[in-house]
Parts: sequence; structure tokens; C-alpha cells
Amino acid sequence: MAGNVLVVDDDPNVVEILTESLRSRGYVTECAYDGEEALEKYEQFQPDLVVLDIILPKKDGFWVCDEIRERDIHRDIPIIMISAEGIPDSMVKGFRSGAQDYIKKPFSLKEIIAKIDNFLNQAIESKNLRVRNLFLEDEVQKGQADYMRINRELKKKILYMRTLFGLSQDLNRLRDPEDLVHIFCLTVIGQLGISSAALFYSYEKHKEHLSYAGGKGVQGNFLSTVRLSSEVGLAKYLKENHDVLDLHRSDLPEEALQESGFMADFGFSFCYPLVVKSHLIGILFIGKKIGDREYSENDFELLKSIASSAATGLENARLYWELQDTYLSTIKVLVSTIEAKDSYTRGHTERVAEYARMLAEEMGLSKKEREILSFGAALHDIGKLGVYENILNKPGELTEKEWAVVRSHPVVGANIIKDMKFLEAACDLVRHHHERLDGEGYPDNLVGDQISVGARIVAIADAFDAMTSNRPYRQAFSVEQAIEQLKKQYEKFDEKIVAKLEELIESGRIKR
Ligand SMILES: [Fe+2]
Ligand SMILES: [Fe+2]
Repeated sequence: MAGNVLVVDDDPNVVEILTESLRSRGYVTECAYDGEEALEKYEQFQPDLVVLDIILPKKDGFWVCDEIRERDIHRDIPIIMISAEGIPDSMVKGFRSGAQDYIKKPFSLKEIIAKIDNFLNQAIESKNLRVRNLFLEDEVQKGQADYMRINRELKKKILYMRTLFGLSQDLNRLRDPEDLVHIFCLTVIGQLGISSAALFYSYEKHKEHLSYAGGKGVQGNFLSTVRLSSEVGLAKYLKENHDVLDLHRSDLPEEALQESGFMADFGFSFCYPLVVKSHLIGILFIGKKIGDREYSENDFELLKSIASSAATGLENARLYWELQDTYLSTIKVLVSTIEAKDSYTRGHTERVAEYARMLAEEMGLSKKEREILSFGAALHDIGKLGVYENILNKPGELTEKEWAVVRSHPVVGANIIKDMKFLEAACDLVRHHHERLDGEGYPDNLVGDQISVGARIVAIADAFDAMTSNRPYRQAFSVEQAIEQLKKQYEKFDEKIVAKLEELIESGRIKR
């Protein structure tokens, strides 16, 4: 068996005998004749075992033993001490210094070789175990690190998925582009941990410019005056290179460079295009990460996913509004055809819608409620489409039967629009614009709070316009007379809304 053995003795004869017999057994040997040389050789040779004489010139064997133990952190290099001294004290001292065995001179060569073989076997086994142990420890640590890394990544991915899921739900639910932009910017800022984000977007399709649509953490006041081309410059570059772009890059085409430099001066670091069916509809700009951290690949991946959800959401909202606009204008055309036949009611719907819009604002109705009200007011008399023309335009008094037909128009109107999903909420206004607080209205004889605020507003706007319009049988009232009439009928018309109407008239915002 092979091994490196360092033999230290001041007696050259002992050294020679020992090294010779060790070499003949396959050991590699090195020798030293004093304490200091012994330590030097130990450093250079890195032996597996040391045979060490106690009495040595310069430094003795105990000193060498101590020094070796200082350097040998695993304390597993066997040291066999030899000495002419047969004193038990030096034996004890040798063991204390960390020697494994002690042999007295003169020693039997057979005995010392047997001991060396034995110690070396143990030492090699212990070394192997130590190496194996280290390897296993390393593996465990690596495994643990891997596990923690995978766990972290998994958690992050789940968070990303949740974010995207939540966002796409919001985007599907929201129809108002402003709300969409708001949610989009908030999501980007929150998820990426960044200081600012701004979206340039064109609410109308195929517009030449992208304008500031909203953002967070930016000085929007100035940005709102900025226009970016949707055809050239950055937009063109981003359409061709659909990727995250570093705004500080200097190798962009001239026009793109101008715009990117401009946005970089605003503190933005990167931008990314919003593309729908290969058509660029917007550009998102993002600022620095909080704490000046670097953007990671994961950040960019998340950004791309969020932006693509937002692009789809915005496009859906645009289509929705376009469709809604088409419906509404068709219906408005229908309504105006009824009015066109009757000079007395011409412009009635438009005016009612306008009064209702102002009243809703004064009453502090929410954006959503005002939107519903604008549909409801514009369509309130649509049921007259189903009322015979000859009744509507009859100059004389109506018979009871004819009245019944006229009084059916709120129900007919509500039925016409009830199947149009986006007009569902306006049905109440159409059906109930002739209800009165005292229950004397029609068609459902609702009382007080049973009538929604929206329906009360349309009722007042409608009645006010009817009073201030000429009729075949009477002249139009003045606005003051009309208000007096409405105030007198406080049991029928909501006093608070009538008061708001009066304010609007007094401030000159409503006149006939
Ligand atoms: Fe009506
Ligand atoms: Fe009306």
C-alpha cells in the first residue's frame, strides 16, 4: 500500500534504515534531521504519516508535534514518536502534543513498520470518509439551495399567474378605457416594483398620434401635451422589433432616437409596444425600479404578459364602444323620425337628454349612473314608435282608448330595449319616466322611493320641456312659469331635483 511518510531523526542511521525499509514496501519517503527542517518538509511534502524523534536539534519533537497539529485541522495525520528516553513523562507529553503512538529506541523494525501500516490504513480510511462526508455535505447544501431557488421561482410564478388572472378579469369586466388604463398602470407599477409608468395610446383607431392616456408616478400635466407619432419614430421601430426597448440605447434610427431621448429625459428607462393584430395601439413607458435595482428577465416577461392582456382589454373596450355607438345612433335616428313628424315635439328628446345630463351632474350621480341616464333620457320616448302616428298628431282631444295607447309607450319602449345587453340598465328610466311620487303616474303606479332617482330626473326634464314647448291647444310656458308649476306639484315631482333645475335656470345654464 502506498503512502507518504516523513521520517524525522537526528541519527542518520535510524533515518536510513527506516526510509530504506519503507521504500521497499512501496512508501514514498522524505526525511528531516532537526525540528525546523521537519516542519518545512511537512509543509512541502504533505505526508500521510510522520515518524518523529523527540530529541532533535533546534526544536524538539514535542514542538514539531504541536506545530503539525496546528496546521492539520482534521487532526488525523498519524504521528509516531520515537525516543531513547524511556521516561513515562515524555510519553504523556507526546500524547498530549497529539502523537498517536510512542516507541522506544532501540525499536524493532518489524514493530514500527507494522504500526506504520496500521496507522496509515486507518488514516486513509478516515481521509476517504472525510472526503465522502464533505461531498455529501456539499450535495445537501446544493440540494437545499436548489430547492429554495425552485421554491422561490415557483412562488414568483404563482404570483405572476395570479396577477395576470386578476388583471385579465378586470380587463374583461371594465368597459371604460380610462379605468382600464388606470388598472393597467397600477398593475405594472405594483408588480414590477417600479417608480413610474405612463401609457401613450390612441382612443380612436388609426389615429396618427398616440397621446398620454394615463400613468402613475409621472408629472402627467406636462406629458399630457406630448404627442408621439403612431407611424414613424419609436412606434415604427417597436412595431418592427416587438420587444422591450432600452430608452438609453444610442443605435436607434434618428426619429426613434429623438423620441426615446425625450422620454428618457422624463426619467423613463424602457418602453414596450401594445400591439393588437399586428397594429400598434399604444406604447408603455416604465421608469426605474424602486431602490435602483436592475430589471431582470422575469420582470420583462411579466411586463410583456401584462401589456398583451391590456392591449386585448383596450381593444375589446374600443369594439364595445363602437358597437354601442352604432346601436345608439340607430336608435336616435328612429326617435328623431317620430319627432320629425310632429313640429311640436321636434328636438324634445335632445333637450330632455341635455337637461337630464345637467341635473344628474348637479345631483352628484356617479359616472356609471350618468352614463345610464344619458341612454335612458335619449330613449325615453322610443316606445312612441309603436304608437300610431294619427293618435300622436291628433289635433283634438283624445278618446279614452287613444289615451290608453299613448300611455302604453313607456312599456313598449322598455320592451324594445330590454334585450340589448348594454341598455338593460336604462330600461327602468324608459319604463318609469311617467311615474309620479304620489302614485298617480303610469304604467306601474310606483310611489315615492320606489321610483329611482334617474327616473325622477327624466320625469322632471321631460315635464319641464313639455311645459316650455308650444302645444296645439296652448302656448308654451316661460321657464319661470314652468318651474312654478313643478314646485306646486311637489307631491308628484322630487323637490330636490326641481330646486337643482331652478338653480340651473337662474345661473343661465338652461334657457328656452
Ligand atoms: Fe314620454
Ligand atoms: Fe317625453
